[in-house]
Amino acid sequence: MNIDELETPVPVVDLDILERNLDRMAGYASAHGLGLRPHIKTHKSPRVGAEQLRRGAVGLTCATTHEAEVMADLTDDILVAYPPVGQARLARLMNLPRHVRLMVALDSAEAIEGLAEAAQAAGRSVRVLVECDLGMHRVGVVTPDDAIRLAQLVRARPPLEFAGVTFYPGHIRGTRADQAAPLAALRDDVDRWLGALRAAGFAPEIVSGGSTPTAFDAHEVGGLTEIRPGTYCYNDREIVSTGAAERADCAFTVVATIVSTAVPGQAVCDAGCKALGREPLRVGAGTGFGELLDHPEVTVKGMSEEHGILDLSQTTWRPRVGERVRIIPNHVCIVTHLNDVIHGVRGHRVETSWPVAARGRAQLV
Ligand SMILES: Cc1ncc(COP(=O)(O)O)c(C=O)c1O
Repeated sequence: MNIDELETPVPVVDLDILERNLDRMAGYASAHGLGLRPHIKTHKSPRVGAEQLRRGAVGLTCATTHEAEVMADLTDDILVAYPPVGQARLARLMNLPRHVRLMVALDSAEAIEGLAEAAQAAGRSVRVLVECDLGMHRVGVVTPDDAIRLAQLVRARPPLEFAGVTFYPGHIRGTRADQAAPLAALRDDVDRWLGALRAAGFAPEIVSGGSTPTAFDAHEVGGLTEIRPGTYCYNDREIVSTGAAERADCAFTVVATIVSTAVPGQAVCDAGCKALGREPLRVGAGTGFGELLDHPEVTVKGMSEEHGILDLSQTTWRPRVGERVRIIPNHVCIVTHLNDVIHGVRGHRVETSWPVAARGRAQLV
């Protein structure tokens, strides 16, 4: 099948670029002796998860219980990097297949208590990473002493096992140049926190960090044992703005059709916010909700649910009704989540399609 035969709007992944992105990160991690535990929230697809594992990933990272349920078919080493809070969430986690060596990240005594009770009732051991806030200010304890206190609580509650610590450097999203100072601060913080934990008798076996914008500098942050980049498989406009990837590394585009040119100065395509998401760019001076692969000067300046309005003010290109365009989204993880199926292409040939099996919550009663 040819890409032009697909009804639009439709997400396509350039398989050559995807494979290159996966190879590059796997090569980086192995060259620096870092475990690679990709966050699957970007692709939510067994097909891509399997490719990551085939390239040596030590396991997979998930945020939702449904992601963990789907990825349990691929690996027995799953980190749920999300606080395991609430009876329903705990029940689903404990129901994961027994072959899964479950590991979770948490930052409260309440979460430890609930998890310990659920794990005991289910008769399964759970490895725990204490989540540390090293600058993002989202989740995570804020001092090494707090981390030590939680590690003590975990150790006191078998079948929980203290496995180590985790943090997410999501606050470091600037350009490579802007990252130098926060990365240096992160290196000092990691050093200080690990020193305190070791001195208290809680030497972490696992120190899990990493993100796509910082991925290729992770070896400079001493002490990490593994990294969890997610977006690197597809990349997007935001990652390109940080300089962590080139435009040519964006594997994922939404193919759309121009449906109207009636209003002067703009063209309207069939990819609205139900196809592209409505994520602003958080890095750099770029505007809009996506840009055209073949015309980088053209952005999606506005959207309705099924209409994407292309800004033609910076281009001499004048599309005609029926013409097709490919749009690089601002934040690809959101776009994945909007779709049931992704098509893998080489050039114009549609080589394969795969389900986004871990999207949604899949809670049936
Ligand atoms: C806890 C955690 N780890 C890893 C990642 C992956 O980071 P990135 O999207 O920069 O690849 C995320 C992203 O949201 C995250 O929340």
